[in-house]
Amino acid sequence: MIEHHHYHPVLLASALDQARADGRRCPVQAHLLGTDLAIWRDDAGQVQAFDDRCPHRGASLSLGRIEGNRLECAYHGWQFEPGGRCTHVPAVPDWQPPEGHRARRYRAREAYGLVWVALLPADGAEAEPPLPDFAAEADDQLRKVNCGPYDVETSAPRIVENFLDMAHFGYVHEGWLGAREHTAIEPYRVTATEHGFIATECRAWQPQSSVQAATGALVDYTYEVNAPYTAILTKVPDAATVKVQGFRESIAMFVCPLSPECSRVWIRLAMLDWTSTDEHLQGFQHTIFMQDKPVLESQRPRLLPITPEAPVTELHCAADRASTAYRRYLKERGITFGIC
Ligand code: FES
Ligand code: CO
Repeated sequence: MIEHHHYHPVLLASALDQARADGRRCPVQAHLLGTDLAIWRDDAGQVQAFDDRCPHRGASLSLGRIEGNRLECAYHGWQFEPGGRCTHVPAVPDWQPPEGHRARRYRAREAYGLVWVALLPADGAEAEPPLPDFAAEADDQLRKVNCGPYDVETSAPRIVENFLDMAHFGYVHEGWLGAREHTAIEPYRVTATEHGFIATECRAWQPQSSVQAATGALVDYTYEVNAPYTAILTKVPDAATVKVQGFRESIAMFVCPLSPECSRVWIRLAMLDWTSTDEHLQGFQHTIFMQDKPVLESQRPRLLPITPEAPVTELHCAADRASTAYRRYLKERGITFGIC
């Protein structure tokens, strides 16, 4: 599956350091593309992503704990090193298991406060996939805050499309991101980039464009897609209408495809606001996302209907240019998970 050749977010990185069972460090279970994972951090600080299935008798490794830099299975206590190799079998303590006694291990990295996994063999010959780019991450002037995860009963592409969509603001987010009196979407531009596309000159009228906004304003947006289930929004409101000069923000939405019709969403904020509490910034995103969620979960089919075999077709208008570009992007890359 082509999605296996991409990194996807599976956990907040902080969850790894907080996980304890009976006072012992333990792995955290995560899910990706129908696969269960047992994620843990080794003593060198590296994230380890094991298949959540002990190669001995198939118990969940995520039920185990971490003993001396090894993941110990909860069933018979077999211990697996960071590389996946089993080095201790308590029932036969003097036995050195052969090289092939291993837990299956996938590629794992840490970025943007999240753990990312690609379902490629950790030691396989496949090229290392790139992580989705989030340019604002490198800007030290911008404060980073993660929101979520939000579990949504729909496919990842439906969630990305909704993030790219301005025409729903006056309805779904009335009084927050839009108003019924200001629903027209001016023409905007979509341009292909090396890893996807960018939509520029997007303008939307917003009564409360951010937690800093004092009055309604036309907000300039740029939307970018540079990985199958990543979308980035950069907002540049008119400086005269906000209290904090130079205010801007970039928001990344990272969607984990748990299964074809079930997804987990994180939102990473990069903003100049260093005074609001994390909870306040997260609360605003939470409100917005909770407005989107019932609509997202109502869409049928849950898979994006874009292949000739899809059970239904959908109708388009000029304001859907970003959505159309996204559908083309998925098709061109042979993405099949989450579409029909
Ligand atoms: Fe894991 Fe036996 S099933 S040690
Ligand atoms: Co919305």
